[in-house]
Amino acid sequence: MRSTAKHSMATFAHAVMTTSTQTCGKPPNLHGVFLAKSLPSGAPATDEQVRYTIIAGLRTMPAFAQMLSEADASDIVRYMHKLN
Ligand code: HEM
Repeated sequence: MRSTAKHSMATFAHAVMTTSTQTCGKPPNLHGVFLAKSLPSGAPATDEQVRYTIIAGLRTMPAFAQMLSEADASDIVRYMHKLN
């Protein structure tokens, strides 16, 4: 991730997690998500799977394909590793 983007990414990720619960289901806590073998859904806890979830959405989680590029999704995944 470009270093100038780090703060805004952190702000964005936390803002969407904490403010959007009224229009979708309750998002899981994703701190340390890569330390487990599986994601809450049972899917493998891999970079590829999380990138896919961001782009495609999952059940009540909205898809971000219209808003984020594959590179953005990769940046988010890289950031999420730092939450471990
Ligand atoms: C950059 C932002 C986001 C990231 C990186 C992210 C990532 C994830 C990941 C990795 C999961 C677990 C997938 C699995 O268990 O297989 C998940 C689940 C979920 N997310 Fe997100 N998410 C984001 C934004 C959002 C937003 C904005 C909402 C709500 C409006 C949301 C709602 C949910 C919900 C409800 C689930 C559980 C879905 C289910 O298992 O039925 N997420 N998210």
